[in-house]
Amino acid sequence: MRVSGRRHNICCMAVAFSVFFCVLFGLHTSFSSGPRPKILVPFNRFWRRLLWRESFWNKEQQRLDILHNPLFNWSRNSSEVPDWFNNTTPLNLCKPDYRVRTQIRDYNTLPEQLQDFLLYMRCRTYPTLIDQPNFCHKKPYLLLVVKSLVQHFDRRQAIRETWGRAGIVANRTVATVFLLGSSLSTDYLPDLQGMLSHEAKFHKDIIQWHYRDTFFNLTLKEVLFLDWFRQRCPHTRYVFKGDDDVIVNTFRIVEFLKNLSLHQRKELFIGSVIMDGEPKRDPKLKYFIPQSVFEGQYPPYASGAGYLFSGNLALRLHSVSHRVLLYPIDDVYTGMCLEKLGLSPEEHSGFKIFDIDDNMTPCMYRGLMMVHSRTPLELLTIWSWIVKPELDCQ
Ligand SMILES: *[C@@H]1O[C@H](CO)[C@@H](O)[C@H](O)[C@H]1NC(C)=O
Ligand SMILES: *[C@@H]1O[C@H](CO)[C@@H](O)[C@H](O)[C@H]1NC(C)=O
Ligand SMILES: *[C@@H]1O[C@H](CO)[C@@H](O)[C@H](O)[C@H]1NC(C)=O
Ligand SMILES: *[C@@H]1O[C@H](CO)[C@@H](O)[C@H](O)[C@H]1NC(C)=O
Ligand SMILES: *[C@@H]1O[C@H](CO)[C@@H](O)[C@H](O)[C@H]1NC(C)=O
Repeated sequence: MRVSGRRHNICCMAVAFSVFFCVLFGLHTSFSSGPRPKILVPFNRFWRRLLWRESFWNKEQQRLDILHNPLFNWSRNSSEVPDWFNNTTPLNLCKPDYRVRTQIRDYNTLPEQLQDFLLYMRCRTYPTLIDQPNFCHKKPYLLLVVKSLVQHFDRRQAIRETWGRAGIVANRTVATVFLLGSSLSTDYLPDLQGMLSHEAKFHKDIIQWHYRDTFFNLTLKEVLFLDWFRQRCPHTRYVFKGDDDVIVNTFRIVEFLKNLSLHQRKELFIGSVIMDGEPKRDPKLKYFIPQSVFEGQYPPYASGAGYLFSGNLALRLHSVSHRVLLYPIDDVYTGMCLEKLGLSPEEHSGFKIFDIDDNMTPCMYRGLMMVHSRTPLELLTIWSWIVKPELDCQ
């Protein structure tokens, strides 16, 4: 009885709806029976003319945009396209590109590191020195990815003993992997490769590529990682990627992830977000980028000290990264890739990067997801607080 009663109601509603629409359309046709309103056809262009920027990176990125945009094919010949468009540089050029010396007007006055970046920025494939082909055979739920340097043995060990301990956390599989580059013989660094090989064999958690591991090459680390991820771990649900001097509350992160809604699971990208970033123009700063190289604002980006995102998004970042020219600052680069996907990172108060209270209490760490920066010794102490069962935090 009840069921049929409901059906009856639905029928009534359907009838009511039809009547409503009939009335609506009827009114519409009766009103529009007079002279038909003219349809406005735009005679002038109604889309925005692209603003051709003069800075080196912007120009080259615009060239990439055109190459990847099929709609632009018809206009390659037109006056819309600036004359530098026909420059025929290959997209993956793995030798120094000496033309940048003339393409960037103040190239000779730039800091050496930046000059170096510009010479090699077209190359994104380097040989793998150490790999872990079966790393994800246990299908981790959460992959902790740590950017490290060869000489940071103590930081890696402290992470393994604390937040990066592989295994089951809150009933989910967690695994940790360290990303490393190498050095050149001309860097005059002690040769630690032998020790690293031992470490890699022992722990089986090190990936190393054959490129010079410097600050401006961190973006390279990012794109090499995305390649590796797509190949080795494409089914991983979530990825945390961060520096080797942070502490991560793995428990809190897993609990947070278990709570996500279906939609959030796919497009998750959270961290400590910088909204109105722009290039620093003071040559003395680490992040200095001159006007001749880049102009404009940075898209919203999450600090590279640590952010959390979905495996699904990692795969999308991998594919879109081929359409974004390498940029010397890795977290800005990731923001640029997200922007190309039409996404932006979301701020989460659990990520503490700036203005850290020096006297954080044990209970404060319990409520956070990540804190930057901490020494290996601090990691051990703080972790003992996080896992202490008798700590009563209300
Ligand atoms: C480009 O323009 C020239 C002359 O305006 C024309 O001869 C040529 O066929 C055009 N090329 C393409 C690809 O449309
Ligand atoms: C490419 O651009 C240069 C100027 O930058 C121009 O002189 C040359 O004719 C162009 N080549 C083609 C094939 O359009
Ligand atoms: C552990 O997780 C699995 C699914 O991943 C679930 O089926 C199981 O019930 C969980 N066990 C506990 C104790 O929560
Ligand atoms: C990045 O790595 C490549 C390959 O080792 C090297 O040639 C280049 O100098 C490095 N760039 C920087 C900025 O260190
Ligand atoms: C998960 O959700 C439950 C219930 O909605 C809430 O009590 C708990 O605080 C949440 N945990 C986290 C880590 O957000």
